[in-house]
This record gives sequence, C-alpha cells and structure tokens, in this order.
Amino acid sequence: MERKPIILNHDTDEGLRQKKYIEKLKQINDRFEIENGRKKKMHVATFGCAMNFHDSEKLKGVLEEIGYVDCDTETEADFVVYNTCAVRENAEQRVYGRIGRLKALKRKNPDLIIALCGCMMQQETVIETLKRSHRHVDIVFGTHNIYRLAELLDTRLTTGKPVFDIWDSYKDIVEDLPTVRKHKFKSSVNIIFGCNNFCSYCIVPYVRGRERSRSVEDILEEVKTLVADGVIEVTLLGQNVNSYGKNLDEPISFAELISKIAEVEGLKRVRFMTSHPKDLSDELIDVMARYDNICKSVHLPFQSGSTEILDKMNRRYTKESYLALIGRIKAKMPDIAISTDIIVGFPGETEEDFLHTLDVLKQVEFDSVFTFIYSKRTGTPAAVLEDQIDEPVIKERFNRLLDIVKDKAYIKSMAHIGNEYKILIEQKNDQQEGMYTGRLDNGHLVHVYGTEDMIGQIHRVRILSGKTFYLIGEIVNEG
Ligand code: SAH
Ligand code: SF4
Ligand code: F3S
Repeated sequence: MERKPIILNHDTDEGLRQKKYIEKLKQINDRFEIENGRKKKMHVATFGCAMNFHDSEKLKGVLEEIGYVDCDTETEADFVVYNTCAVRENAEQRVYGRIGRLKALKRKNPDLIIALCGCMMQQETVIETLKRSHRHVDIVFGTHNIYRLAELLDTRLTTGKPVFDIWDSYKDIVEDLPTVRKHKFKSSVNIIFGCNNFCSYCIVPYVRGRERSRSVEDILEEVKTLVADGVIEVTLLGQNVNSYGKNLDEPISFAELISKIAEVEGLKRVRFMTSHPKDLSDELIDVMARYDNICKSVHLPFQSGSTEILDKMNRRYTKESYLALIGRIKAKMPDIAISTDIIVGFPGETEEDFLHTLDVLKQVEFDSVFTFIYSKRTGTPAAVLEDQIDEPVIKERFNRLLDIVKDKAYIKSMAHIGNEYKILIEQKNDQQEGMYTGRLDNGHLVHVYGTEDMIGQIHRVRILSGKTFYLIGEIVNEG
C-alpha cells in the first residue's frame, strides 16, 4: 500500500477540524498498541463503481493516519467499513446479508466498530431498516460527508451511542485529507461529483447529488503531486466526465481539462470514465487523437438500442445518433477500444426493442460489454411505469444477449494475437509463478512472464495467445 502525501496547498477549515480528530484518535490507538503489542486493524469492503473504490482509498487514508493497519477479513478486524452501492437491488441484498453476519462478530468482540457508508445510506428506507433490524451498527454516514469519518468515530467513542449522519447534499469539497492508494504507479482522480442526468431508471443522482466540478487548479495540483510521487497512469473519474466544468465560475470543457492534464510532464497515460453519449464532443475526439498519452479507450454506455426505450430512459440520444458518434470516434481513432453498458428488461421493452439492442452489438465492435438486468429502484421515475417486464422474459433475453457478448468478446480478444502493444505491468499473477499481469492502453488484461522490478513500468509485448477476457504475451523490449 502506498500513502499519498497530504496535499496541504488548500487547507480548508473543515480539513483542519478533521486533522484534530485524527490526532486525538491516533493517541488512543497508540496507547492501544503499547498496551496490546499490536496495532488496531481495519477492514474496508467496497461495493459498486470506481468512484466508491476511490472514496474507500480516502477512508483508508484517514484510518491509516489514525493508526489502523489493513487486514483481509472482518474476523480479524477492530474496525469494519462497508462502502455500499445502491444501483441495483441484488447488490443491496448482498450488503444486508453481510451486515447481518457481523452481529455474531460483534457479540464476540463488543469493541468492534462497524461503519456503513456510501450510496445505500442516502436512502431513507435503508436508514429505517438499519435502525430497526441492525442495531449492532455503530456509525452510518452517506456520500456527502465521507471526509468526516474521524469526527464520527470520535463521537461514537465519546458518546457510546450509534452515530447516524446523513446529509441531503454536499457542503464542501475537502481537498486536503490523506489517501491510501493501492498501486504506487497509478491512481484515480475525481474531477466531477454527482450527476444531473436523471436517467429514469437510475438512483445515482438521488444518492450522489447534483453535479459539481473540482477546480482545474486543484485537479492539476493533485495530478502533479501524484506524478512527483511515482504515478504514471491517472484515471479521471466522474459519472459523466463530459459535463466537467460547465458550472465552474470560469466554464471550461472536459476536452480542455484533459489536454492540460496530458501535458503534465512525466504522465505516461491518462484515462477517464464514464462518458455519456449525448455529451461526448468532437472537441474531445480531436484532443484524444492528438495526445499520445491519452489512452485510446472510452466507456460509452448505450443502455438500449431502441430509440423509443432510450426516450423512456431519458437518455437524450437515439440509436442512430449513438452509431454516428461511434463512427466519428472510429474515423479519428480506428484502433480505439470502446466498452459499453446495456440494461435488459426496462419497462415496456418489446422483443423488437430488444432486437435493436442486439443490432447495435452487431454493428459496433465493442471491446467489452457490461450487461445488467433492469432493477426497479424506488424513487426513480421508471419504478412507477406500468409495463414492468416479467422475469422469465427478461432472463431469456439476458441469456441471448450474454451468448452474443461472449462470442464477440472472444473474437475481439483473439484479434490481438500476433500484434505488439505497450503494456503497463501492474501486479504479480497469483495463479502462475513468474507471471505478471498488466493492461494494454485499451484496457485489455495481459499476462506475461517477467520480473518483480517490472511492476509499474511500461513494456512492449507481443501477444501470443488468449481467452475471452485475457491475453498471454511475451515481453519484446522495454517501452
Ligand atoms: N454514469 C454512468 C453509469 C453509472 S451506473 C453512465 O451514465 O454511463 C453503471 C451502470 O449501471 C449504468 O450504465 C447502467 O447500465 C446500470 N444501471 C444503472 N441503474 C440501473 C438499474 N436500475 N437497473 C439495472 N442497471 C442499472
Ligand atoms: Fe445514472 Fe444516467 Fe447519471 Fe449515469 S448519467 S449516473 S446512468 S443518471
Ligand atoms: Fe453504485 Fe453509488 Fe457508484 S450507487 S454505481 S456506488 S455512484
């Protein structure tokens, strides 16, 4: 685990307040270490998207500063955090199952602190259920106040009572708290929080709030600090990165932002996710094509191939305009990797609508496709639509879709064989001694024989063979 330096350029009052709590709690944990001959352990489990994973790095940063060390399972932990996702119901059910199982652990170890946070916690019904049926939970907070973790822990310890702290909307973007990042050489950077799109099926705008962009200066400062600390690949994060900068005092486009980032000395790769098809501009396509270090890969969810369903989803593009956009992207970057998300079984989806979805799959050579069964989210406009689709129909469509996706992914993967690419080697391969795993510019996973010192470096590989979801390569020279 690498610790990113605390960025002190921008001390807000809130940041300073939290540091005082961190200091106070650290003294308590230091005393625990002296008395028990070990440090307290934390277990942070994360559900959901890249944004949640990045939030967890911030939570771990604060807990590490307080004196906790990471551990693999809940059973060993003194502090358990579940950072939750609300996007689909089955993800929520899994979290409830895990919270339930913590009851026995808490009985064995009454000093265990259980904290829940993230998108699920922004829903009133979830809070009611926790208060009613999961009284062993100690700290509950939402998506707008994760930087207050130290203060909430202090409140829990000093009052001895469960602490619930959920905000309807955000107050500050706190810039100066510590972060633990998983890899020394790559990192995510938030550029925009929240979402204003209100796709009719989606809970995210309700649990993450309205769009707000970080300032260009803060983002560039963070990227430069990361690069100075050994990072060579940065992923810019937002629910819809293409909305970046629209609401800043001095508006700026995402294309302008990413070109400034691409020019940061020493940054070898920059990626971004997610893009909304209605907002991906020709300006961005030009900028992507111009800079070598902007990865030629884009995640561009189309959700459905039926213009009628897209309209009901409030996506604000059509099948034809989506295909035209893909055409413009490929014209400028023929080798670009495009990935997408698809929802099956949106209310009112007919067989004909579904065939349009399959048709888009036929027409576009996606590099990867994430498929989801529509999940009804209370509070979203789609949840009250009348013509919800029966489960057997959805399952049948979903299986047909999966078959096509798997076949196409296999063909796409095989097309790499015999070619040479640059790969960023990320980690040891757990399954095969002497092998290491990395990613191509287009995001594809590659396993190669190598040496430990190659981790975090970019090398040239030739692809020898592959399966649907990974490739095997050999290093041909240093890149
Ligand atoms: N902001 C991103 C995606 C966020 S959620 C975007 O707009 O592209 C990730 C994916 O989950 C979505 O792209 C969508 O395919 C899926 N999803 C969101 N809400 C869903 C729901 N209610 N049921 C099923 N899948 C859903
Ligand atoms: Fe959800 Fe749509 Fe916003 Fe993506 S763009 S987070 S799918 S509302
Ligand atoms: Fe899930 Fe929240 Fe991300 S609902 S997908 S973790 S923004």
